Amino acid sequence: MDYNEVVTTRRSVHEYSDEDVSTETLEAVFRKATYAPSSFNLQPWEFLVVRDDDRLATLAEVANGQEHVEEASATVVVLGNLDPSAHADPVFDDWLRKGYIPDEDVKEQLLDTVEGMADQSAAERRVWTNRSTALAAQQFMTAAWSEGVATCPMEGFDADALVEAFDIDDGYEPVMLVTVGYPAEDAAEAERKYRRPVDEVVHYGTFEPVTGAEVDETAGESATAADD
Ligand SMILES: Cc1cc2nc3c(=O)[nH]c(=O)nc-3n(C[C@H](O)[C@H](O)[C@H](O)COP(=O)(O)O)c2cc1C
Repeated sequence: MDYNEVVTTRRSVHEYSDEDVSTETLEAVFRKATYAPSSFNLQPWEFLVVRDDDRLATLAEVANGQEHVEEASATVVVLGNLDPSAHADPVFDDWLRKGYIPDEDVKEQLLDTVEGMADQSAAERRVWTNRSTALAAQQFMTAAWSEGVATCPMEGFDADALVEAFDIDDGYEPVMLVTVGYPAEDAAEAERKYRRPVDEVVHYGTFEPVTGAEVDETAGESATAADD
C-alpha cells in the first residue's frame, strides 16, 4: 500500500478475523512506530502487548467492557514514561557522537534541561509524555495498516483499574489502548466517517475558530472523496 492509500483507507476497526497477527509482523510494525518524532528524541513510549485470552478479558473489563479489546488478535497498552530524563543519557551521547551537538558541555546543559523538566508538575509531565507517545501510537496504526493489520485507538478505559490489574509502575501514564488484528470481512470498508473540511480547520496567519453552529456537515465528504 502506498502512503496515500494507507492514510486515506485506515479506519478504526471493531470486528476482527480469527487470524492471529504474528510476532514478526508486530515487531516490524513496532519498529516503524519507533521512528516517530519525540520531544528531545527522548522516546518516552513503551508498549505492553496483551495477547493471552485471560489478560485480554481483564483488559476488556477495565476498558468499560468494549468487546473489540477481546476480539482483537492483540491489544496494545500504550504507556508514556512520566520522567523526561529516564533515557536522556544515551540519546544525548548519540547526538554528541553524530555531531548534532558540538561538545560535552552542551550535552551537560541538555541533561540539566531535561532533569529540570522532570521537576515539573504531574499535570505538565502528563502533557509532555502524551504528546510524544500519541505520535508513536499514530505511527503504529499507520504502519500496521500498511501491512493490512487494522487497529482501533481507545481512550475509553479506567486508567487506575488498568494500572492495578496490569501492575504498571506509577512512573508511567496509560496513554491509550490500541486493538490490533486482521479485519473481519468488510470491517475495514465501511463508508468513511465525516471529516471536517480542510478550509475549516486550517487558518493562515490569524486564528478565528469556527463555531459548531457554522459547521457545514457535508463539506468534509467531498474533500475526503477527492483524497481517496
Ligand atoms: C484519543 C482517541 C480515543 C478513542 N477512544 C475510542 C474508544 O474508547 N473506543 C472506540 O471504539 N474507539 C475509540 N476511538 C476511535 C474513534 O472513534 C475514531 O478514530 C473516530 O470515530 C474516527 O474514525 P476512524 O478512525 O475510523 O477514521 C478513539 C480515537 C481516539 C483518537
